[in-house]
Amino acid sequence: MEAVRRVSPRKTPTDGAATRCTVTVCRGCCCGTAKVPGVDHAAQLAALKAALAPVAQVRAVNCLDACEHANVVVVQPSAAGRAEGGRPVWLGLVNDPDATGDIVTWVRAGGPGLAEPPDILGLYVFSPSRRVRRTVEE
Ligand code: FES
Repeated sequence: MEAVRRVSPRKTPTDGAATRCTVTVCRGCCCGTAKVPGVDHAAQLAALKAALAPVAQVRAVNCLDACEHANVVVVQPSAAGRAEGGRPVWLGLVNDPDATGDIVTWVRAGGPGLAEPPDILGLYVFSPSRRVRRTVEE
């Protein structure tokens, strides 16, 4: 079982995360649990970590307070991506391997600000409230 880290509201990137994309994978009370049936949650997180380790920080966190969108994944831009206008992208209902694969493809291509996401990912994008957004983005 993987440890889940709680994100504090004023958390800033560390250990080189600012130079790479950060992929935040919610593993709280709904995301990553049997409440989202038919998903191999452990395999999803393992696939993201294995595929993105060279190019991104992948972290599991506790509930992001957007449970109605479980499983939630947030792709935050690298420093270069942010400089090009990239902003964190919140993806919800990431409950199939194809969506996970599309996230991998996009992040490997550079992620927000540096590469266009596969069109299909647009179906997963949602906009959380400002309060929720702050838990991950600041
Ligand atoms: S458990 Fe993921 S948003 Fe609540």
